[in-house]
Amino acid sequence: MKIPIEKPVLVTCALPYVNGECHIGHLRTYVPADIYVRMLRKMGYDVIFIGGSDTHGTPIVLSAEAQGITPEEVVEKYHKHFKRMFQALNVNFDYYGRTDSESNQRRTTEIVKKLIENGYVYEKETKQAFCNTCGRFLPDRYVEGKCPYCGAMARGDECDQGCGKHLEPGEIIEPKCKICGSKANFKEQEHFFFKLSSFADFLISYLDKLGGTRNARNYALEWTKKELRDWCITRALEWGVKFPGRDDLVVYVWVDAPIGYISSTEELLNYTTDGKDWRMYWKGNKATIVHFIGTDIVYHHCIFWPAMLKGAGYSLPDAVVASGMVKINGGTFSKSRGNVVWVKEFLERFHPDTLRYYLVAQSSHTKELNFSWDSFSTRVNNELVAILGNLVHRVISFAYKNFGVVPEGDIDEDVFAAIAHTKEEETRAVDEYEFKKLVDSAMKLADFGNSFFQREEPWHLIKKGDAGRERCGEIVKNVLQLIKAVCIGLEAVMPTKMEEVWSQLGMESDVHSVKLDEMMTPIKSGQPLKKPKRLFDRVEL
Ligand code: MSP
Ligand code: ZN
Repeated sequence: MKIPIEKPVLVTCALPYVNGECHIGHLRTYVPADIYVRMLRKMGYDVIFIGGSDTHGTPIVLSAEAQGITPEEVVEKYHKHFKRMFQALNVNFDYYGRTDSESNQRRTTEIVKKLIENGYVYEKETKQAFCNTCGRFLPDRYVEGKCPYCGAMARGDECDQGCGKHLEPGEIIEPKCKICGSKANFKEQEHFFFKLSSFADFLISYLDKLGGTRNARNYALEWTKKELRDWCITRALEWGVKFPGRDDLVVYVWVDAPIGYISSTEELLNYTTDGKDWRMYWKGNKATIVHFIGTDIVYHHCIFWPAMLKGAGYSLPDAVVASGMVKINGGTFSKSRGNVVWVKEFLERFHPDTLRYYLVAQSSHTKELNFSWDSFSTRVNNELVAILGNLVHRVISFAYKNFGVVPEGDIDEDVFAAIAHTKEEETRAVDEYEFKKLVDSAMKLADFGNSFFQREEPWHLIKKGDAGRERCGEIVKNVLQLIKAVCIGLEAVMPTKMEEVWSQLGMESDVHSVKLDEMMTPIKSGQPLKKPKRLFDRVEL
């Protein structure tokens, strides 16, 4: 979807549960979103980029119980951890908030009250999983059992191993208590429900026009057309945002979590003075809202969230971009089975840019990504080292040694044509959320640079008198132009490495704020080059 250039854009990433460390599966939401934001800015869009920690819900409480610490301590620890990981990976949020902030509590209360006022909330007796041994109710992840839709093993509020559907309290079959393992039963409890069923017609027409990736829209449409059941929005827990007027209930985590997108926008714009207001993004559809998520949370972002926003009179998301899930060696991520790659450990050995590259080059965004060390080393060695690193090092070394500066000469028509074509492909890739096409296109241009240099054999020309040297300079200048263009296109993917290339080319501007159009601007002759350093190391298994 080509988003309108005139409107400001808000890009968000799903807020990680801060109940444990960041693994590479998480990054499939954050890295492509960061790439998308960097590319939009290069294309001239006015963008703000929002993230934050999801601090509520049973994932946090269970992790606290398991570690023998308080939920507050869990949140403090992993909120810091995630912030550090994003910094290390150059995922540059304009604002990184948290859902337990005062402003999020306030915004959540306001929205829930508005939904009540508009007649979308009612109270009802329901059956909830209850453990006789522990003598307590078992909300969400406190209970495990079978999915009533597909029969797979499921958690209390989602079929995480099977069909991916959201499960309402009381729906799970053969419930078992997660704390003591005994068989649970059901017991009546009063709860508040959101009239999701009355939003079916709205959702069908809304989803029909929703931008983003097709997988998100199609899943959501399918679920909406089948049956929408009213949504239980309260839990009998201590940890969370209190339901208005009820000290014994908090709202379900999926109520206050996405509202974090709004409150973080408010918090960001409170600190800036350029006259922007959060309402510009969240009231009256004056901006373009794009959410980056994984396919496991499509239901929440394409059904619950737009219905809530509609019911409370807020702007609606324009696009939901859902990545496929990351698997490891063909299996699902599992911390208990040790089938997981931690980002922190990864970064102790490898450069963050190699991981950023791998995550988008390995498979198209909506497809599953099967991580293996084999495929990682192949991508790094055969692409980053052999194509890109080789081009940059070989050509800049040659130019540095023989000229010291960018030589004189004109840029060939077919070099400009190749760059123009790449620029077009890269732009289209961004519009289509096809980040693999973005890197493939840039690497194709790098490949073209390598063959151009090889074919013209400038190392022979340099020995053939003044005329030879002149032609040699021209060839070098052409390949330097190609490197410059490749570098601009890949800055979004590998910001640190491309900063190095930019500086080796002797460019004085800031590579992070250069526009895509500059791919076509001829590199300046006479500009001093820097002595090149090798860009990437080979990965040995
Ligand atoms: N807290 C919720 C999101 C609330 S948004 C208002 C949540 N948190 S999460 O920590 O489980 O996931 C954070 C992001 O990482 C989500 O976009 C999720 O889809 C993504 N992923 C987590 N594990 C993943 C894989 N193994 N593979 C791909 N993406 C995955 O969901
Ligand atoms: Zn299921």
